[in-house]
Order: sequence, then structure tokens, then C-alpha cells
Amino acid sequence: MVDFVCWNDTYSVHIREMDTHHRTFIGHINTLYNAIMHKETDTALAKIMQDLHAYAQYHFSAEEELMLKHNYPGLKQQVKQHIAFVDKLEAFAVMLFKEKDERARETLSFMKDWFLYHIRVVDKKYSDYFAEHNITI
Ligand SMILES: [Fe+2]
Repeated sequence: MVDFVCWNDTYSVHIREMDTHHRTFIGHINTLYNAIMHKETDTALAKIMQDLHAYAQYHFSAEEELMLKHNYPGLKQQVKQHIAFVDKLEAFAVMLFKEKDERARETLSFMKDWFLYHIRVVDKKYSDYFAEHNITI
């Protein structure tokens, strides 16, 4: 399996559970990448998209719960971004099977860009906030 997105320690939000989630999320993106590259069947792709969707929702809920618990002021903004990601994912899941090649490229670059930006910029803010307020998880 080829890695389309690679984890590196600069992505760490210094919360072990969230780092593990982010790694698993990247794993789902890489699974999708490999399935597209190997021209897997629509059934296989649909299953991968479903798994990615389920994992995204699981991860986002866990993250939002953590932010809520510790009164993180950027929660609203995070929820907005999470909803937008899930919406986009659902739209791609539908389109992936129509104009396959073009949509596959768009889906993959969206996933990569969104996710890496989200971890490095948006999630980093709660990481900094927790550190500044001496919140240990
Ligand atoms: Fe996250």
C-alpha cells in the first residue's frame, strides 16, 4: 500500500487519543487513494467511503466532546468545519461513481488538503489552548 498522506510529528496536537484518531483518519484516506489507484469496484469504493464517513463522524464527535468539556472557545468554528467536511464527503461519495477519474482526483486532493490544514491549523488551536490553560488529557 502506498501512502498518499504521511503522518509526521509536526501534526501532533499533543493529545494521545486525538493523534491516534488523526493517524487512523489518514489511514482511511490512504485506503481510499489505493483503492482508486487500483481501480477497485464501485462496491469496494462505496464501502471505503462509508467507513471514512463513519470514522469522520466518530472522530469529530470525540473532538467536539473534548472541546466542550474544557470550554474551548473555538468549538463553534470547529463544529462548522466538521459539518462542512462531512457534507463534502457525502457529495463526493455520490459523484465519485459518475465522472469517476475527474471526481476521484478532486476527492483525493480535497481530503488531503482539508485534513492536513485542519490538523495543522485548526486543531492546533485547541492544542495550544489546552496547553495554555494547563489542561492535561
Ligand atoms: Fe481533528
